Amino acid sequence: MVSESFSGASPRRFLITGGAGFIGSNFTHHWCQNYPGDRIVVLDALTYAGNPQNLADLKTRENFHFVKGNICDRALVDELLKTEKIDTIIHFAAESHVDRSILAPDAFIQTNLVGTFTLLEAFRRHFPRIANNSPLFLHVSTDEVYGSLNPEDPPFTETTPYAPNSPYSASKAGSDHLARSYFHTYKIPTIITNCSNNYGAYHFPEKLIPLMCINILLGKPLPVYGDGQNVRDWLYVLDHCRALETVIQRGKPGEMYNIGGNNEVKNIDLVQMLCGIMDELAPDLPVRPSQQLITFVKDRPGHDRRYAIDATKIKTELGWTPAVTIEAGLRKTVQWYLNNRHWWQPLLSEEYQNYYQQLYGNLDK
Ligand code: NAD
Ligand code: DAU
Repeated sequence: MVSESFSGASPRRFLITGGAGFIGSNFTHHWCQNYPGDRIVVLDALTYAGNPQNLADLKTRENFHFVKGNICDRALVDELLKTEKIDTIIHFAAESHVDRSILAPDAFIQTNLVGTFTLLEAFRRHFPRIANNSPLFLHVSTDEVYGSLNPEDPPFTETTPYAPNSPYSASKAGSDHLARSYFHTYKIPTIITNCSNNYGAYHFPEKLIPLMCINILLGKPLPVYGDGQNVRDWLYVLDHCRALETVIQRGKPGEMYNIGGNNEVKNIDLVQMLCGIMDELAPDLPVRPSQQLITFVKDRPGHDRRYAIDATKIKTELGWTPAVTIEAGLRKTVQWYLNNRHWWQPLLSEEYQNYYQQLYGNLDK
């Protein structure tokens, strides 16, 4: 069923940054389907991680407009906020991969810190022009800002002190602090969400789950870092989109909300689950059983041992809970990579192969 714009009479006018990436494109589809009366402007620089194919089916919609551009470009952001009469920014754009932040942190500081600052400052200047009575700057962030948990520690809550350990998480932590400061200093209605590991359709091949799916299909080694005992708290991407929808509708400006799937899984167990599902669903795998491909490799420097989210606040205050179990979500995801070879094959470009070689060395030998 299609819902009316939650703001009542006038439709919302969104600027979605990073809408051509993994979560941003899932969210943009979700919103266009459910709120067709709202205006959606996507601003995306189309870095290696941004893919116009992710939004191809929205191109002809009247209320959808894609702009290729950088969030650090203040003049462009000013122009878009003004001409499109934006009242709501959903800020996904970021350099998002921890391993790349270890190899080359520069772009992370530029986009995640300077880019977020540029958007916040442009929104502050634009704010007095907004006629809508519920403007919002939603800053989409990560649980990695809280650092690493020991096995006996309770999950992260919104009051857990920040302790980022990688250049990626440090840059996201800095951008969270900026968003927070704009609420406290300038009364700009910012909300920060801190989410755990997402998975699902349109996930770029460098991340653990798509990497394993693709390597199984290609019969290539499955690189597991260290002892494989690191824990992540997995959330199906459409559950994240529904959580963001809830926050946009009912979240309180100035607040932070943790979002997580209550699905703590050790990496090695996750990879084994993926191998089992692939063996079952894929008719002609080059190597079967695919578990034979699992290869333990050198650990990620500073590798956080465990993440886990306590999502009590968003559940009790806003009424969101995840709907998709890890078993069901992984099956849907494996099936998507099986059905969409034409989407992921072109992403294994020369640039990607160079990155892969730099990170993993000669794994195939
Ligand atoms: P992604 O890497 O798949 O997509 C990032 C998008 O941002 C790409 O389309 C890219 O082209 C765009 N982009 C990068 N730099 C830009 C710039 N300077 N200007 C404009 N566009 C730019 O990332 P994702 O996994 O979809 O993550 C989206 C957001 O959610 C990020 O802020 C990330 O920190 C956060 N997050 C991700 C996860 C996860 O598990 N993937 C979990 C929690 C939070
Ligand atoms: O927790 C939220 C974060 O989740 C987001 O903020 C990040 O943007 C997102 O990339 C993700 O970060 P991780 O570093 O947890 O995700 P990644 O898929 O890179 O790795 C998941 C786990 O798998 C991690 O413990 C490292 C391990 N791993 C990863 C790769 C790529 C391997 O063992 N082998 C691999 O080849």
